[in-house]
Amino acid sequence: MWFPILANGLMSCSAYYLSIKLIPKVKDMFIKANLFGVDQNKKNGEKVPESIGVVTGCIFLITMFLFIPISYGNGEHNEKFPHEFVELIVALLSICCMLLLGFADDVLDLRWRHKLLLPTIASLPLLMVYYINFNTTTIVIPKPFRSLLGVTLDIGILYYVYMGMLAVFCTNAINILAGINGLEVGQSIVIAISIIIFNLIELSGPLWKAHQFSLYFLLPYCATSLALFKYNWYPSRVFVGDTFCYFSGMTFAVVGILGHFSKTTLLFFIPQVFNFLFSVPQLFHFIECPRHRLPKYNAETNQLDCSLVKFQYSKLGVLGKFFLKLFKSLKLIRWHEKDGFITTNNFTIINLVLLYLGPMHEAKLTTILIVIQIFCTCIAFTIRYPLASIFYDL
Ligand code: UD1
Ligand code: MG
Repeated sequence: MWFPILANGLMSCSAYYLSIKLIPKVKDMFIKANLFGVDQNKKNGEKVPESIGVVTGCIFLITMFLFIPISYGNGEHNEKFPHEFVELIVALLSICCMLLLGFADDVLDLRWRHKLLLPTIASLPLLMVYYINFNTTTIVIPKPFRSLLGVTLDIGILYYVYMGMLAVFCTNAINILAGINGLEVGQSIVIAISIIIFNLIELSGPLWKAHQFSLYFLLPYCATSLALFKYNWYPSRVFVGDTFCYFSGMTFAVVGILGHFSKTTLLFFIPQVFNFLFSVPQLFHFIECPRHRLPKYNAETNQLDCSLVKFQYSKLGVLGKFFLKLFKSLKLIRWHEKDGFITTNNFTIINLVLLYLGPMHEAKLTTILIVIQIFCTCIAFTIRYPLASIFYDL
């Protein structure tokens, strides 16, 4: 059990050093290819290379390809060879697809509907393997509902819809909790480490194979992302791009689905789920959504403050008005009205933190959001272990 994991760990260390060396070298290539963005929270307006996630994503794939002969090349696995090997290859195919699609998004600036459609299609091979290898679509019902629904319930095709949606959610949820230096990678590393801890705990259980499989992916993922974090942390010398967000989301979805712990994976996404639900009115245009919702920079104080959005109240639909009132009563937004126009903070948790704690430095804001992510991981473990044993016979 431990030999391949240790080999994978060692290879991940090399992947980390390779990424650290490679990123500064390719920076200028990206700028030359017009792949750059301007940091909206800095005075200098310098060009920062964008989509560097494609570099770490490729190093991740190379590490995985080199790892295949180590884990499956010794012939010991001959009988189970096709089954597990196909899973690994298909998982890599889905991740590779998402890396390509993310890169396409960075270069071509895709529309919202594509962002929803593409991860769904990229997860199809994965769902097919799940169908052929497992095809278990039964869920265990929590104890209080068992008198109504029975101990288990087969939800059939709905289970596949759910897994497809998981891929869409994971990819986009990371992408919309973004816009300040280090946040995209920071949150992803916390999620990855959380799943790694969960896998290590479960290695001693009966499903250890699935958790070993997950570790094969997450160790190199973590290593390459840590290298990226070093350059993306305040002040960012590179941006990760949608490439990285899609690549990360798909990696988490893949290990969750094939490792049979997709619900636990979702538990590590508490801030992202909250941010997504909070963003729904803007994402679906019930309320005006500006191109960028990242916080507003104040050059005089060098601090960030809530970014605002202005719209005409009378032009809102029923749902727009409903969400506005709901969020106001939940104290998630603060708005003023003038001449029929409403000005309110954009609907993201980044702005919510600023709303409550006041303007602050960018690095401090990222740190607070990452600490929230870590705190939510602790909540997730409390739900997964002590509480789940009350609701399920675990
Ligand atoms: C998503 C968000 C958008 C947010 C953006 C920031 C939604 C619906 N979309 O859009 O609100 O503003 O991410 O990434 O919520 N940038 C910085 N500093 C950073 C990171 C990014 O200034 O630390 C800016 C740069 O100009 C960079 C650009 O954001 O070029 C990248 O934005 P992009 O990833 O294309 O935005 P979206 O993912 O479409
Ligand atoms: Mg983005």
